Amino acid sequence: KTTLQLAVVPGDGIGPEVTAEALKVLQAAAPATVKLEQTRYDLGAERYLATGEVLPDSVLEEIRGHDAILLGAVGGRPGDPALPPGILERGLLLRLRFELDHYVNLRPSRIFPGVTSPLADPGEVDFVVVREGTEGPYTGNGGALRVGTPAEVATEVSVNTAFGVERVVRDAFARAQRRPRRRLTLVHKTNVLVHAGAVWWRLVQQVASEYPDVTVDYMHVDAAMIFLATDPARFDVIVTDNLFGDIVTDLAAAITGGIGLAASGNVNPDRTAPSMFEPVHGSAPDIAGQQVADPTAAILSVALMLDHLGHAGPAADVEAAVLADLAARTAGARRSTPEVGDAIAARVAG
Ligand code: NAD
Ligand code: IPM
Ligand code: MN
Repeated sequence: KTTLQLAVVPGDGIGPEVTAEALKVLQAAAPATVKLEQTRYDLGAERYLATGEVLPDSVLEEIRGHDAILLGAVGGRPGDPALPPGILERGLLLRLRFELDHYVNLRPSRIFPGVTSPLADPGEVDFVVVREGTEGPYTGNGGALRVGTPAEVATEVSVNTAFGVERVVRDAFARAQRRPRRRLTLVHKTNVLVHAGAVWWRLVQQVASEYPDVTVDYMHVDAAMIFLATDPARFDVIVTDNLFGDIVTDLAAAITGGIGLAASGNVNPDRTAPSMFEPVHGSAPDIAGQQVADPTAAILSVALMLDHLGHAGPAADVEAAVLADLAARTAGARRSTPEVGDAIAARVAG
């Protein structure tokens, strides 16, 4: 019997609600040969407000010793004076992504059978966004001068290294190669962000020469928003920078049935540290505490995790259970968060 050591960070708002359901489904799906061991970490708003701690170094090192991380969501209500923006997002979530070298932020988007898209005629939508996870404008390379004065200047400098861009581009090509349509779209803004754009453009062309059967195209990020809304079926693999990828994937979620269905993996492909799996959505303060959040995104994140850990069968079981549940959903019928989790777990077990 092998042991799977899972670090669980339920986090804030709906994070703990959806994580509980994801864990139910994981229990149901885990192969009999795997012994599941969980360590829960009470990181997030409550701990920060009580102790001032966000992610103590000792906790980070403990987490590093696990096989994978399951995260709910972190962050408070935008505008809450007790919890300034960025404290948890930067100090906890991004710190984990950076320290554990999650350079591939994998965000699949698919309109599952039976799910209604807000688009009238979206076609067969099934693409994956490979979002760079450790660089871009997310590095915290910026600052402010003369704060609060009329002469204030604030900068957030986007960091793009050849090393960082090449490794995520290579991962995206490898994924495109394994998909039936073998199409890769670089999404950037090379017409304005000329320095970063040049690195991305050049490395995509360079790696493309090693993948002659992958069709490569390019779209400026603004135009990509047009096509996501008018013809999302054209996309197969999208590779893009950290910030563009953040924005693209919320729209991608919206057109494929909603943010409650969008899963993600923060993957360290070199396996030098545990990868982290989480829904694309946040802590949803507007619906927290009501048990009305859709746990499907968190549950599909478990499928991504199982797949990453080499359990392709159980991953497929979870996905099949979700698909069956989605197909059986009736418009207007509202189920609570645990009702959805129980239904999917029962399908996995049954
Ligand atoms: P959000 O994703 O939390 O919510 C946006 C909207 O989607 C809300 O109306 C919310 O109710 C709805 N929604 C989200 N998840 C849902 C679900 N599972 N089922 C049904 N509806 C759902 O984004 P936001 O409001 O911009 O951010 C809230 C907080 O979460 C902020 O503090 C933000 O920084 C943080 N955040 C964290 C993560 C993360 O931990 N990975 C991701 C995004 C935002
Ligand atoms: C996401 C979130 C995070 C991001 C925030 C909370 C740091 O929006 O996971 O999409 O921007 O990556
Ligand atoms: Mn986001």
